[in-house]
Amino acid sequence: MEGEVRVQDVALKHNDTIPQQFIRSENEQPGITTVHGAVLEVPVIDLNDPDQEKVHRSIVDASQQWGMFQVVNHGIPGEVIRELQKVGKMFFELPQEEKEKYAKPPDSKDIQGYGSKLQKELEGKKGWVDHLFHKIWPPSAIDYRFWPENIPSYREANEEYRKYLHGVADKLLKCLSLGLGLEENDMKEALGGDNLIYLLKINYYPPCPQPELALGVVAHTDMSSITLLVPNDVQGLQASRDGHWYDVKYIPNALVIHIGDQMEILSNGKYKSVLHRTTVSKDKTRMSWPVFLEPPPDQEVGPHPKLVNEENPAKFKTKEYSDYAYCKLNKIPQ
Ligand code: SIN
Ligand code: FE2
Repeated sequence: MEGEVRVQDVALKHNDTIPQQFIRSENEQPGITTVHGAVLEVPVIDLNDPDQEKVHRSIVDASQQWGMFQVVNHGIPGEVIRELQKVGKMFFELPQEEKEKYAKPPDSKDIQGYGSKLQKELEGKKGWVDHLFHKIWPPSAIDYRFWPENIPSYREANEEYRKYLHGVADKLLKCLSLGLGLEENDMKEALGGDNLIYLLKINYYPPCPQPELALGVVAHTDMSSITLLVPNDVQGLQASRDGHWYDVKYIPNALVIHIGDQMEILSNGKYKSVLHRTTVSKDKTRMSWPVFLEPPPDQEVGPHPKLVNEENPAKFKTKEYSDYAYCKLNKIPQ
């Protein structure tokens, strides 16, 4: 879209200081609000550990106590991840007018496309990040208009990654289901079953001359059920723990898993969605590739009926996912 300001452009034009609208208030500035010198070691779970009972327990514990964990030996070949990263980086390195061909149409209610802003922010502040959103599963939900077509291997790289990601996602959902005493498929069914949507976002955080004053993505919990994310090797993810912000340790080849709002709701509060945000780097470009597992828009999500009874009343409303998303994006209480 013409006239839309892209952070990538702003970064090219500002070498010393950043425009006012990117300067966070003091209670958000990472320079002030980060606990320095401490790296948060969120649980790291080896999915290939021979003791699978231990693996299951760790996933359930981490989802209850942290809402975030990292998985290694997840079965997605390094080469497949590197290809996904390579083609995503190629997209953001295209000339600006090429990228704009994939811009989210201004009147579109759909989130898909190239863009720079998501949530309504207080005081009109902006995050130091551009993004590209498109769905990668199921086939009926995919809109190839938002898949860069002039990068020849883009489609193949994304399809390969998605193929392997299914295995990890199914394993996690089964495990989270069993961890609440449900049947292994109950959670996935409650989230739409085979219509569960895999929404890919690519975050592009250009170098920022004043990283201590800006944020990439502001503090939030994910709306999804779970999010599976690969970052590049630039530190930037932070999680909130006991009211303080900590860097989350970057672990090569790990996938970062976030418990999102729909999982917290479905589990009636047993699993916690994690409050997180991202910082940016002075001289490096950070990128990340979260995939959000989202119920279809008309899917009603609420505490799972098998988890609710007289002693355990529902702690959340049941509503269509599209209503939930609308309220969240517009900051309307749920
Ligand atoms: C996000 O939470 O939206 C981004 C996380 C990241 O870039 O690591
Ligand atoms: Fe997030």
